[in-house]
Amino acid sequence: MTDINIAIIPGDGIGVEVTAAAWEVSLAAAATCNIGLSATTFPWSCDHYLKTGAMMPANGIETLRSYDAILLGAIGWPAKVSDDVSLHELLLRIRKEFDLYANVRPHKLLPGVTGPLRAENIDILCIRENTEGEYSGAGGRVHRATANEVAIETAVFTRQGVERILRYGFEMARKRRKQLASVTKSNAQRHSMVFWDDVTRQMSVEYPDVEVRSYHVDALAARMVMFPETLDVIVASNLFGDILSDIGAAIQGGLGFAASANIDPTGRSPSMFEPVHGSAPDIAGKDAANPIAAIWSAAMMFEHLGQPELAARIMATVERVCARGIGVGSAGSSQGTHYITNEILLEIAR
Ligand code: NAI
Ligand code: MG
Repeated sequence: MTDINIAIIPGDGIGVEVTAAAWEVSLAAAATCNIGLSATTFPWSCDHYLKTGAMMPANGIETLRSYDAILLGAIGWPAKVSDDVSLHELLLRIRKEFDLYANVRPHKLLPGVTGPLRAENIDILCIRENTEGEYSGAGGRVHRATANEVAIETAVFTRQGVERILRYGFEMARKRRKQLASVTKSNAQRHSMVFWDDVTRQMSVEYPDVEVRSYHVDALAARMVMFPETLDVIVASNLFGDILSDIGAAIQGGLGFAASANIDPTGRSPSMFEPVHGSAPDIAGKDAANPIAAIWSAAMMFEHLGQPELAARIMATVERVCARGIGVGSAGSSQGTHYITNEILLEIAR
């Protein structure tokens, strides 16, 4: 019997509803695989901020460090706490302090789900660099509110940062269909992006079994819409990956299906798994959120923790349920969080 210990941070709004669903499904599936799961739920959220003055306690990061992984719902409730505070003090702090440098999003069209495209075989893994690049935070603003005002935002690309994300991309491609699309804009950005292309070429020697192609980001964005079935693994910088993975979420049927992982591939820190969507204040408390993105994120967590059988069990169940038309529909579903979750639980028991 394997024992896995998870830190759950439900967060705000529908984050609470979908993590409850994801954990219930995880427990049921784990029982069929003889895996013992335990979890501690941390109430860190905007309500916690209003009560205590902080999104998480001072020792929050140290507390999380002792868990195998983190399952997170969504953070943010703009009517109570400004988004830049809630996001920076919790979600971004965890990503940064644990150096979760690979942001991974599977864009797969599940059976029964009709995305906006005619393509039926979409199965893309988008890997976004999560710590530097265009979002390094380096820059400044001077001569404020004058005609001479200047704002500079500097993209930072280090050899360590570029090599480690490309290596992760090559490794993932090797486990899948062995095709890697490396994304830059090296015709226009002659320093950082040519460097990225150089590192891609250098590393490809170590992966002769992986077919690697470099694309400009604009061309790849078009390819994701026109010929998504030709793409396997995509690896991109922070900004490019951010935008491309939103195209990915759209073509897989919307936010109700978009799962993600923030991974420390070295395994030194706990990795964090979360649906791509936010707290959805417009539908929170109405039992209207699609829990599939969160359930899929939990499956990614078990895969990362070396439990592929459990991950596959969860995803096979979700796919069978979706194929019956349950949980599908625009950006989620009107069938209800509980209804969809119960159908998945029944399918596991079958
Ligand atoms: P959102 O993702 O919460 O909602 C966008 C739209 O999609 C809404 O109409 C919502 O009802 C719908 N939607 C989202 N998830 C759904 C689901 N599972 N099932 C059915 N419909 C779903 O984005 P929004 O409204 O821009 O942000 C709300 C709050 O969430 C903000 O405070 C924002 O900062 C935060 N946020 C947090 C994220 C995170 O924790 N990683 C990511 C995105 C936003
Ligand atoms: Mg985004």
